[in-house]
Amino acid sequence: MTIEELKQLARQMQERAYCPYSHFPVGAVLECTDGSVYTGCNIENSSYPAGSCAERVAVSKAVSEGNTSFRRIVIVANTDDICVPCGMCRQFMQEFSPNLEVICMNAKGETKAYFLSELLPYQFDGSCLR
Ligand code: THU
Repeated sequence: MTIEELKQLARQMQERAYCPYSHFPVGAVLECTDGSVYTGCNIENSSYPAGSCAERVAVSKAVSEGNTSFRRIVIVANTDDICVPCGMCRQFMQEFSPNLEVICMNAKGETKAYFLSELLPYQFDGSCLR
C-alpha cells in the first residue's frame, strides 16, 4: 500500500475505536515486510487497565495470524500536535521489530516519522532472560 492509502485506512480505523471513557479515538495500520496489512483501534474497558491501545491491537492481530516482521506503522489521533505511542506499546512493538518505522499523524494529516529505536532506546529485550 502507498503511504496515502495507509493514512486513509488509519483514519477509517479511528471510526471503529471503542473509547467511551477517554473520547480519544486512535487508529493504527501496521504494514508487514511481506506487504500484508493489519489494522487496529483503541478498545477501552470499564475496568480501565483492561483496555488496549490501537497499536497493540494491530500488532496482536498480525502476530496471531503468523506475521511477526513489521515494516511500518501509521498511527493517527485527533490532536493538534503529533501524538506518539505510549511506553507499553513501544515495548510491545520492539519485541518483533526494533527497527520499525513509526509514522504518527495528527488531526490535520501532518505526519512525523520515527524509528522505534529512537523512541525506545535501551529497550528491554529477550536477551536479558537467556
Ligand atoms: N491510545 C492509543 O490507542 N494509542 C496511543 O498511542 C496513545 C493512547 C489510547 C488508549 C486510550 O484508549 C486512549 O488512547 C487515551 O489514552
